[in-house]
Amino acid sequence: MLEIRDLHVKFHNRDREAVAGISLTIGDGEIVGLVGESGSGKSVTAMSIAGLLPRKQCDLSGDILLDGEDLLHAPRSALRQIHGRKIGVVFQEPMSAMDPLMKVGEQVGEVLRIHTRMSKEERRARVLEVLQAVELSDPEAVYDKYPHELSGGMLQRAMIAAAIVIHPTLLLLDEPTTALDVTIQAQILELLKKLNAEWGISMLFISHNLNVVRKLCRRVAVMQRGELVEAGSTDQVFFRPQHPYTKRLIEAIPTRHGKETL
Ligand SMILES: Nc1ncnc2c1ncn2[C@@H]1O[C@H](COP(=O)(O)OP(=O)(O)OP(=O)(O)O)[C@@H](O)[C@H]1O
Ligand SMILES: [Mg+2]
Repeated sequence: MLEIRDLHVKFHNRDREAVAGISLTIGDGEIVGLVGESGSGKSVTAMSIAGLLPRKQCDLSGDILLDGEDLLHAPRSALRQIHGRKIGVVFQEPMSAMDPLMKVGEQVGEVLRIHTRMSKEERRARVLEVLQAVELSDPEAVYDKYPHELSGGMLQRAMIAAAIVIHPTLLLLDEPTTALDVTIQAQILELLKKLNAEWGISMLFISHNLNVVRKLCRRVAVMQRGELVEAGSTDQVFFRPQHPYTKRLIEAIPTRHGKETL
């Protein structure tokens, strides 16, 4: 279980806190959506959890606990271990997250090389398994390809494979389908649902697409200007929004008929 308690993030070169005291829990096997306008602090929240914030450029306070382990205040070497082994991260642009000169299979297995004592053969076997799990056909062929040889949808599957290859407890997804066309987006969402159901991985799913969030997430949290203005079950937030900002967000959901018909 992930527990965020009163998290504050303030970049030195900014006047306002990027994250201004949020508290949020993600239960085991749960998918929680994080929505809110651009600049509201969603990615900074995810980066705080993943340990990816430039620590020298910001002040952090509060607590982030994963299964009781401290993700914010532990010594660096311990943090690197916990982050590497227990948290997987998938961002919007798969191409920019990949090393163009390294074979896809090697990149997917990189985290195993760093964080486990698996042999080369064991790593290759695990990578092929996980390429299969993300439903890339012909994993053997994909293993030896370079990133530019894969389509956007295939690359995002490979990124998901890289994020889950070490069997993390938590997957952070920051707009993972935004760069993909609608059909591929739907396939990736099905894949995430499957991984959640079969592997029991908890997920934080950040998206601007509220329709997608509604389909995927059991609970949703809404951020505005660094604060969590509303959090609750997806049904509750979508059908009975309490905060004026959430109401505006929901009203703005585009539909085929121009009128909201959830
Ligand atoms: N490295 C940084 N240095 C200074 N300010 C930053 C840094 N990263 C983010 N910020 C600021 O923190 C605030 C929150 O940004 P964040 O990227 O979390 O927003 P977001 O909700 O993810 O937006 P979007 O939906 O556009 O991705 C913004 O004001 C942003 O400019
Ligand atoms: Mg963002």
